[in-house]
Amino acid sequence: MEVVICKTREEASKLAANMITAAVKKNPKLVLGLATGSTPVLMYTEMANAVKAKKVSYRQVKSWNLDEYVGLAGTHDQSYRYFMNENLFKKIDIKLANTHVLNGLAEDVDKECRAYEAQIKKAGGIDIQVLGIGSDGHIAFNEPGTSLKSRTSCVYLTPSTIRDNARLFFKGKEKDVPTRALSMGVGTICEAKKCILLAFGKGKADAIKGCVEGPMSQFCTASALQAHNDCWIFCDEAAASKLKLKKYYAWRSATKLGI
Ligand code: F6R
Repeated sequence: MEVVICKTREEASKLAANMITAAVKKNPKLVLGLATGSTPVLMYTEMANAVKAKKVSYRQVKSWNLDEYVGLAGTHDQSYRYFMNENLFKKIDIKLANTHVLNGLAEDVDKECRAYEAQIKKAGGIDIQVLGIGSDGHIAFNEPGTSLKSRTSCVYLTPSTIRDNARLFFKGKEKDVPTRALSMGVGTICEAKKCILLAFGKGKADAIKGCVEGPMSQFCTASALQAHNDCWIFCDEAAASKLKLKKYYAWRSATKLGI
């Protein structure tokens, strides 16, 4: 696990975007796993800037998103499909048909989840998986108590996630946040060839501590990434503030990145 600690979230987002841009340039048919939420927005803007500057093209890239709320159509302005269209897909030259988000209105959710996993497998697996982290240490919507081997399935959000998501989205109304979601599993995520996790602000400090230095445990599902052999954490100083070895991680990752 490499922990890149930057002064600002802008700097961290730029470095993470550069890593993705370089990977797409190297392999124009890259398979991306994508995340929603407030955290990756700046990175998506940087990725879009690189397309605008003609440094890279996403015409042959395929993507699969981590999760979607149950009960929301992709046209709903709080759905993750809508979020991705607005914050990334409309701003880059990816073909919309090559982008995949779980269907929150699927009648048979198990069938939907099985089909999603099969699509990813058929595409050759995810090359780079983008992740945020919940304040309770979740990745995708894999809440505390979820098996670290879980697969894509219908999951139940904790009250703290519902509160967090209402704060930033759903106009602050907790009662409007769906209580269930379809989510890639921890096991599914860990099969990605590379993972890039972003975390900003002091509200993520405990989660990052658990993810990087805590015991590997289903009570912080992000800690499963400790067993991944190509996982990069891009964070600001506030999110890294509780790490015991933060100076060492910062030096090691900066050396590896040549920054
Ligand atoms: C979103 C997702 C979630 C978020 C996490 C952090 O697709 O899978 O795990 O990454 O809840 O959300 P923000 O970035 O809004 O703090």
